[in-house]
Amino acid sequence: MAAGGRRPEHRGPPELFYDEVEARKYAHNSRMIEIQSQMSERAVELLGLPEDHQCLLLDVGCGSGLSGDYISEQGHCWVGLDISSAMLDVAVERDVEGDLMLADMGQGIPFRPGTFDGCISISAVQWLCNADKKTHSPPKRLRQFFSTLYTALARGARAVLQLYPENPQQLELITSQAMKAGFTGGVVVDYPNSTRAKKFFLCLFAGAAGVLPKGLSTECGEEEATRAQFTSERLRFRSAKGKSAKKSRDWVLEKKERRRRQGKEVRADTKYTGRKRRPHF
Ligand SMILES: C[S@@+](CC[C@H](N)C(=O)[O-])C[C@H]1O[C@@H](n2cnc3c(N)ncnc32)[C@H](O)[C@@H]1O
Repeated sequence: MAAGGRRPEHRGPPELFYDEVEARKYAHNSRMIEIQSQMSERAVELLGLPEDHQCLLLDVGCGSGLSGDYISEQGHCWVGLDISSAMLDVAVERDVEGDLMLADMGQGIPFRPGTFDGCISISAVQWLCNADKKTHSPPKRLRQFFSTLYTALARGARAVLQLYPENPQQLELITSQAMKAGFTGGVVVDYPNSTRAKKFFLCLFAGAAGVLPKGLSTECGEEEATRAQFTSERLRFRSAKGKSAKKSRDWVLEKKERRRRQGKEVRADTKYTGRKRRPHF
């Protein structure tokens, strides 16, 4: 994954993309390490774990174990699952504390019901949207993943999956399969107006409906309501060409953000930004 924070521009199977060369970056590239750690920290925060209790977590696409390190630092135990043996080799070399398993999440999560108190996943689940083999059906693999993940989680537990959907259709495919498997929850978007920092976290509740946390905004760490609860409406998202609908709130916010980056003076965003105005006569 380029610089640890972008979706890889790669069409083949993940186990070929995450080869020895790529895996080495997770051991030595400080930017990569920092980004993985930041996203893991946010994912664990969104899990909302009890403070007085050691939990057992699952890390799907655990790779080199950088995310796992953060879980260990927080005093929890973890099991990591990954399809790439090169990435797992790095985790072993790094002597991570979690237990590791070579497995393809698209074939299901092979654990007994109620095993985990939570699950995180960093930049992995969007890989299930690719059909790498003739026999692969993305909807079926996503369904298999989510239904077995649901079973492996304790009732009331959460799964927080950071992902890079390639387009709105991918996000809709992923969320709809999660819903079909029985999860409630939705998508939390951090820094929605920043091209570089924007992050999607799919926050899923197993068994008990919870309140979806708010996304972070670019305004001095202030929180903003950037969450999309599961709904029958289509998700508001950029168009297939990557642009927001002209004059929409997103379009206005992005334009303001661009002007700020150009060093121009721009009025602060408010709840009225981009609102529809009545026609003047
Ligand atoms: C961005 S890396 C995650 C790195 C990890 N957070 C770490 O600390 O090193 C994404 C990982 O997802 C894994 N992955 C992709 N598709 C997968 C699949 N179908 N099953 C299991 N793991 C998969 C890749 O092998 C890769 O290690």
